[in-house]
Amino acid sequence: MSRIMVTGGAGFIGTTLVRALLARGDEVVVIDDLSRPGSTERLDATRQLGGALHTEIGDIVDGDFVRAAFGRHCEAAPLDAVYHLAAQVAVTWSMEDPARDFAVNALGSFHVIEAARRFCPKARCLYMSSNKVYGGLEDLGFEPDPAGDRLRLIGMPEGIGNDRPFDPQTPYGVSKGTGEAYFRDAARTWGMETVVLRASCIYGPRQSQQEDQGWVAWFGKAVTEGLPLRIFGDGKTTRDMLFVDDLVDLYLRIVDGPAPTVGCTLNVGGSAASSRSLLEVVRALERLSGKTANMSFLDERSGDQKVFVTDVSATTAAYGWAPTTGPEVGLKRLLGID
Ligand SMILES: NC(=O)c1ccc[n+]([C@@H]2O[C@H](COP(=O)([O-])OP(=O)(O)OC[C@H]3O[C@@H](n4cnc5c(N)ncnc54)[C@H](O)[C@@H]3O)[C@@H](O)[C@H]2O)c1
Repeated sequence: MSRIMVTGGAGFIGTTLVRALLARGDEVVVIDDLSRPGSTERLDATRQLGGALHTEIGDIVDGDFVRAAFGRHCEAAPLDAVYHLAAQVAVTWSMEDPARDFAVNALGSFHVIEAARRFCPKARCLYMSSNKVYGGLEDLGFEPDPAGDRLRLIGMPEGIGNDRPFDPQTPYGVSKGTGEAYFRDAARTWGMETVVLRASCIYGPRQSQQEDQGWVAWFGKAVTEGLPLRIFGDGKTTRDMLFVDDLVDLYLRIVDGPAPTVGCTLNVGGSAASSRSLLEVVRALERLSGKTANMSFLDERSGDQKVFVTDVSATTAAYGWAPTTGPEVGLKRLLGID
């Protein structure tokens, strides 16, 4: 049994992780301010499962709160691992309120890694970053992909590797990149075991169904309930999709596995086999639900990468991990029909 802190443990990914940890008998401490729609309900449902779950409800921007929570749960023995998932998660909100975005993602992440350094310096600490730290990828060409009604990167069949230059774009990209830099540096400067994952599009059950973030879950709700579905651009925008259970599988391998290399930074995503355009996802949801989407098309949003496909080969080499749930199965599970 391990003792594990999960910040953002009431969120979509955090809840899925916490459930997996509790199921295998770990003791879990969740830090969350319950600011995201659905977080209170997700946490209540997790509590119903029983198991050794502790909660610390508060804002990671408040350094005193973060230190007190770590101090309390490290008093008897230091924690074994910390997953830092709490974040301001939407690019659109980061543009409306960049100061709050910075406070949560940069300063909040600083408080978390600092508290880990002080109270549990040997804990393995995972930071969930974003592919937005690679910027808009304007220098890369793309073309129609003969495999479907989608785009692919020219000359990069496996997608974007983690050797791509760090060039964060949008306030969200910059704040996530700042938090990431503190975690990476903690390995070099303080000798901590940190791992940074740069993630593409994650989807699955219990995801908040909002237009601003978590587009696959939002598309699922909009199509099945006949709500207006706004498509920014021509619908050919392409992403590799990763089902959340596959991500959690990687999380567990990282915390259970051998010590990471210093400053370990890896990509995680569905990889080329799971890349789909927005239109392909809409059509798949229509097929599965028997409903017709109520779509309209608007201008592209600034900062949106036209194509992002994740090269996960370094992650596979490091942890023997590969995604196993393709979009067809994953979308069924999202809609609760599998
Ligand atoms: N979902 C994706 O596709 C995706 C892709 C790349 C990176 N990520 C990253 O993964 C992590 C989890 O994302 P998610 O999709 O589960 O989002 P989510 O919004 O469902 O979960 C985030 C949780 O953090 C909590 N939170 C927000 N601000 C907080 C604060 N100031 N203090 C304490 N708690 C706070 C929210 O209440 C929520 O429960 C985030 O760091 C996000 O940036 C997600």
